[in-house]
Amino acid sequence: MKRVKTGIKGIDDMSQGGFPDRTVSLIRGPTGSAKSLFGLQFIEKGVRSGEKGLFLSIEEGRENMRRAVESFDLDWKIYENGHAYMIDYGEIRRGEGEDMLIHFTDIQEFLDNFLDNENIKRLVIDSISAISLYYSSPEKLRKNLFEFCRFLKDKDVVTVLISENEKPGSGLEGFVTDSVLNLGYENFNGEFRRTIKITKMRFTKHDPYKHPFLIMNEGIDVSLDEIIR
Ligand SMILES: Nc1ncnc2c1ncn2[C@@H]1O[C@H](COP(=O)(O)OP(=O)(O)OP(=O)(O)O)[C@@H](O)[C@H]1O
Ligand SMILES: [Mg+2]
Repeated sequence: MKRVKTGIKGIDDMSQGGFPDRTVSLIRGPTGSAKSLFGLQFIEKGVRSGEKGLFLSIEEGRENMRRAVESFDLDWKIYENGHAYMIDYGEIRRGEGEDMLIHFTDIQEFLDNFLDNENIKRLVIDSISAISLYYSSPEKLRKNLFEFCRFLKDKDVVTVLISENEKPGSGLEGFVTDSVLNLGYENFNGEFRRTIKITKMRFTKHDPYKHPFLIMNEGIDVSLDEIIR
């Protein structure tokens, strides 16, 4: 099976070589748990492997994303030289004079042509939490999200959906995605530690343990030797 490497230290080893091709993964965690960093590293690794990426930012403007990329010591140039795209979806909506109620169907319509025309192989959506807020009922959200994931799985792309939903099992998203990675930022006996756990990954074996990670100059660095219980 073709694997798509995240390029993140430790994570490809936890998952037998990365995400299976044409899958949708959910990265879930509280604020400050390095979800956006994960997505940005995933896109940058793609560019280094000759795969074009799209980082679709729902809440943050392009300028704030540039600042984030530079604060992590990542390469902003890839978003300016056409190797990857950084798109502020809110900006597109405002440009079209639309209100800010975003549904998955709107994003699907936008992506349908864009992914094919630009030959996008890696997609990150940061984050889907804001979109989920606009649904009046959980049933409608679940139906739309399910259709959206089906649409993504039919495209030749590997997707990372970011969600702020931090309680395992509390969101609907985990049911419809192929993989769920939980990021944590927790207090252990007075010491705050960042953690990662793969809760599920379809089509492959994976490491089931919770491991600590650090944010280094090269990005996320997972300690596979250490297990947090
Ligand atoms: N150069 C750096 N070295 C180490 N840590 C950094 C560096 N730059 C930023 N950070 C830390 O990385 C963390 C942010 O990660 P990130 O923005 O990816 O989190 P997030 O989960 O996306 O948060 P949010 O839910 O608020 O969007 C911050 O807590 C910040 O302090
Ligand atoms: Mg973020």
